[in-house]
Amino acid sequence: MKVYIKTYGCQMNERDSDAMASQLKAQGHEIVFSEEEADALIFNTCSVRDAAERKAKGKIGYMKKLKAVKPGLIIGVAGCMAQRLGDKLLEELPHLDFVLGTGQLHTLPEKLEKISAERERFSETTPSPDVLTGMSGHFSGGWHAEIAITRGCNRFCSYCIVPYVRGREISRSLEDVINEAKTLVANGTKEILLLGQNVAAYGLNGDTRPPAAGYSPFAELLDELDKIDGLLRIRYTSPYVTYFNDRLIETLARSKKVCHNIHLPLQSGSDRVLREMNRQYTRESYLAKVAELKAAIPDITFSTDVIVGFPGETDEDFAMTREVMNQVDYAQSFVFKYSPRPGAKSAEREDSVPEEVKEERNQILLGDLAARVEKRLAAMKNQTVEVLVEGVSPRNPERWSGRTGTNIMVHFEPDEKIEQGTLRNVEIVQTNPVSLFGKLV
Ligand code: 5AD
Ligand code: SF4
Repeated sequence: MKVYIKTYGCQMNERDSDAMASQLKAQGHEIVFSEEEADALIFNTCSVRDAAERKAKGKIGYMKKLKAVKPGLIIGVAGCMAQRLGDKLLEELPHLDFVLGTGQLHTLPEKLEKISAERERFSETTPSPDVLTGMSGHFSGGWHAEIAITRGCNRFCSYCIVPYVRGREISRSLEDVINEAKTLVANGTKEILLLGQNVAAYGLNGDTRPPAAGYSPFAELLDELDKIDGLLRIRYTSPYVTYFNDRLIETLARSKKVCHNIHLPLQSGSDRVLREMNRQYTRESYLAKVAELKAAIPDITFSTDVIVGFPGETDEDFAMTREVMNQVDYAQSFVFKYSPRPGAKSAEREDSVPEEVKEERNQILLGDLAARVEKRLAAMKNQTVEVLVEGVSPRNPERWSGRTGTNIMVHFEPDEKIEQGTLRNVEIVQTNPVSLFGKLV
């Protein structure tokens, strides 16, 4: 069967789609990249904001036309929106064949067999712990690979749908993750990105309290990965700030392979809003952790997620967010306009901040970010940095690009030895507000 998979949402979803694609290929199916060519269309969806759901529904709705001219076409919806809406999707979209929840993704190949044999519409959203191992160990063999080390989330931030659609947090065993990493590296992987809704909670069995001093299963995992010969870089996303204890910080500072960049979601800089969001830190404790990390790892960079327009967010609350962001000096930030999610606690409150105000706050933070980035890049002129070579630059075929450990992209002219997945030193010769250009040294 020719299968087309379209992904919405986060890196975890991208990774899940890759895993589903490899599973299908292993069973003799072909992955295609256009809807018209396909015998089956799979939409791996996101529920984190209403806009993501509307986009997917719009697209799936539009596929009715394709099915009208190709009645044998199979259409399935998988992932977070599938989990959240289940049977309702079948009612809403009469041309849809099946719905596959987040705990059932590993069963896609058998579900495709079932639907093509029986032609009976179904929705399967029963959570299964088998998804943890069922979705592991599928890789495409590139220099970069991703490993999901945890699935689900136990934190219940008041705005967030994830604990409801992805279920309780579960971790893979250390042995399982290390074996997967070793197989990847033996097949040419140089950089591994560890994924989880809260990676730093790895191995804590769902306990949401900050781990005791001296104890961090996530740090133990990083220490083991560090020992794998041939692996050059380890990245991870995203950790929750309260899990950075002495043990973890010590590992991050000591490791030669763990990159000096942390995606550390802030969400808000106002203590009142943080409390209402059920985030277990304050502006002060967040900043103290950042200071501790900066002291231990001087060249570290941070990126973050922030929500603007949470119910009741005032100009003063927003001003505090802005202030914290400038103080941390994030190298990258993702700003989201608050979107009430039915089922999440905050959706019981009125979505009180008008859309124009959300947009205005969004633009202000984007402007601040652009100014910070320009300054950071300008300061890098004449520095020599080590990059992991990624390949030809997306916008200029004459150039190649690579990323520093601190997650900053550098463009440069290639030489005859240039090779993807190798470490090279580059001297920065030119900067502009958004990019760095250098020459190989
Ligand atoms: N509205 C807006 N943004 C949200 N996020 C999560 N839930 C919501 C919501 N209801 C954002 C958070 C999270 C990122 C993945 O999405 O900032 O870190
Ligand atoms: Fe979207 Fe969150 Fe689900 Fe990822 S985990 S697909 S961001 S709802």
